[in-house]
Amino acid sequence: MKLWGGRYDVETDELMHQLNRSIPFDRRLWQADITGSRAWAEGLRDAGLISHAEWEALDEGLQRVAEEWAEGGFEIRESDEDIHSAVERRLFELVGEVAGKLHTGRSRNDQVATGTRLFLLWESARLEAALVRLQTSLADLAEANPDAIMPGYTHFQPAQPILFAHWVLSHFWPLQRDRERLRDLRPRLATLPLGAGALAGHSLGVDRQQLARRLGFERVAPNSLDAVADRDFIAEFLSWAALLGVHLSRLAEDLIVFTNPALNFVRLDPRFTTGSSLMPQKANPDALELARGKSGRLIGNLVGLLTTLKGLPSGYNKDLQEDKEPLFDTLDTLLALLPVLADVVRTMRPSPEAMRAALDDAMLATDLADSLVRRGVPFREAHHLAGRAVAAAERAGCSLRDLPLAAYQAIDSRFQADLYEIFDWRAAVAAKTSVGGTAPEAVREQLAQARVALAEGARSGF
Ligand code: ARG
Repeated sequence: MKLWGGRYDVETDELMHQLNRSIPFDRRLWQADITGSRAWAEGLRDAGLISHAEWEALDEGLQRVAEEWAEGGFEIRESDEDIHSAVERRLFELVGEVAGKLHTGRSRNDQVATGTRLFLLWESARLEAALVRLQTSLADLAEANPDAIMPGYTHFQPAQPILFAHWVLSHFWPLQRDRERLRDLRPRLATLPLGAGALAGHSLGVDRQQLARRLGFERVAPNSLDAVADRDFIAEFLSWAALLGVHLSRLAEDLIVFTNPALNFVRLDPRFTTGSSLMPQKANPDALELARGKSGRLIGNLVGLLTTLKGLPSGYNKDLQEDKEPLFDTLDTLLALLPVLADVVRTMRPSPEAMRAALDDAMLATDLADSLVRRGVPFREAHHLAGRAVAAAERAGCSLRDLPLAAYQAIDSRFQADLYEIFDWRAAVAAKTSVGGTAPEAVREQLAQARVALAEGARSGF
């Protein structure tokens, strides 16, 4: 049954029907669509457009349709165009002619925008929970490994020693910002299009504020023409997800490098690696590679939708049906990825010994310069002198701590025997006491802040 057959005396071309048909993917909106329809039926009842008995028939019918979907018993017909027409077709079958009153004053344009928003509001709560699980795994990993010291990198060259826990938490905060950003989307997402009609509003007196309250929306879209065409909420969501994907990719990349046998800082639980069909020794970090790879697809979904939206004339256009597959794909991608990453982090085993083995005295060259600074040498000059010491050690084929005092003093007499005190990894790390620094006490404070952030979020919920 077509919802719009009246003006036609020919059947839609079959291939056109297949092209136009969105039920294969928008069926996922069934619950949101039916929830929206039930609220609309109440609105019609309250506005005196349908009787109480008619409302009851519609509401019970809609609930039965929902049950069929929930139980897997809903039969999609070849002629069903989209989720909206499929639900209405079934409602007719179940309750008869009164079903024809449901669409009074409504259009699929405001209906689909409402359903998609509702769907995303619900799914955002699931996403936030998945994100929090990953954050919690990171916080737990940092807490369980307070002492391990590893090389910190810039330009992926060994730079300065840092606590492993500090590195772990460096991946917690981007996710915390993602969580904040997800919540920031909420008021715009929870803006109600229903009641906008096809584009111009409706003339039947259904109270939109009341609809918003019934559906858990925070406010009513102020312009009906904008309301039916606004997909900013999906673009924002996809952009949010793309940035989260970038963060997950960077975490994955660090771990891929750290699990490489050349470094071996962490070992992955074999349940999250795969073997090679040819090389018996391999344990490949596929979960992490997929995390890195899928960020490309998350970015692609955003770019695809923006490209679809760009240049549309005002009001609803069928192009907008193209909003759903990227939305669902991004959602599914994240809901598949986040739990696996949380478990990868939860089950991996750091090796403080391997981290230690990768520490090189040259990473203390800055501390060597600082020791001169404390004797009053200007930093620029101290930097130069420490650099010459690094070069001298390189020439002598030894490490900085094995370079004899005579060699240091040949560079500058202000190098004194106490310089050797800097060659203490724990002391080097402990000295970085600035807020947010890598000293154990600063990292403990940082971890406490992370725990507060997690607990605060848990109280307020999405
Ligand atoms: N399946 C459509 C979509 O997802 C529903 C809205 C159809 N509206 C219309 N005027 N044809 O966008």
